[in-house]
Amino acid sequence: MKEVKIETTLQVYDHLNDTPKEVQDLMEQAISAREKAYAPYSKFNVGAALLLENKEIITGSNQENASYPSGLCAERTAIYFAGAKYPEEKIIKMAISASSKIHTTITPIPPCGACRQAISEYENKQNHPIEIYFMGESGKVVRSNSLANLLPLGFDKSYL
Ligand code: THU
Repeated sequence: MKEVKIETTLQVYDHLNDTPKEVQDLMEQAISAREKAYAPYSKFNVGAALLLENKEIITGSNQENASYPSGLCAERTAIYFAGAKYPEEKIIKMAISASSKIHTTITPIPPCGACRQAISEYENKQNHPIEIYFMGESGKVVRSNSLANLLPLGFDKSYL
């Protein structure tokens, strides 16, 4: 038996103002998208904004459904739209912000496992890392220079 240790490195900013201007602007778009979330069941609003190589910004928010599993997260709403509208454009950065109508969310909220898998597919497809920034409604911002940092032992097409 051999033990394998997997490490990851993330950057933590104390405040959005400490991030590069381009990231602040992208996060502001994620925050605006968050306000448009349709989340009557969880009351947990999430917004995502993608910066494409052509400088276009694509946003998305979570869309819930009375049949709960039919809803979709903000990150996948945004990335599938980007994939559908600009299939040839690389996704350079992604900003995510979440807030709850029930409590204050100052903890940075990472993308869920299913969204990591979806983002990973596009990172592999474009063969270029997607830089990810995520936060709550205020407070610290976490940066990952690639989705791969958030999904060790990811499943990809090489296994098929
Ligand atoms: N949600 C997202 O939009 N992104 C995530 O990565 C985690 C969860 C949404 C789904 C659901 O509408 C609500 O947050 C509560 O889970």
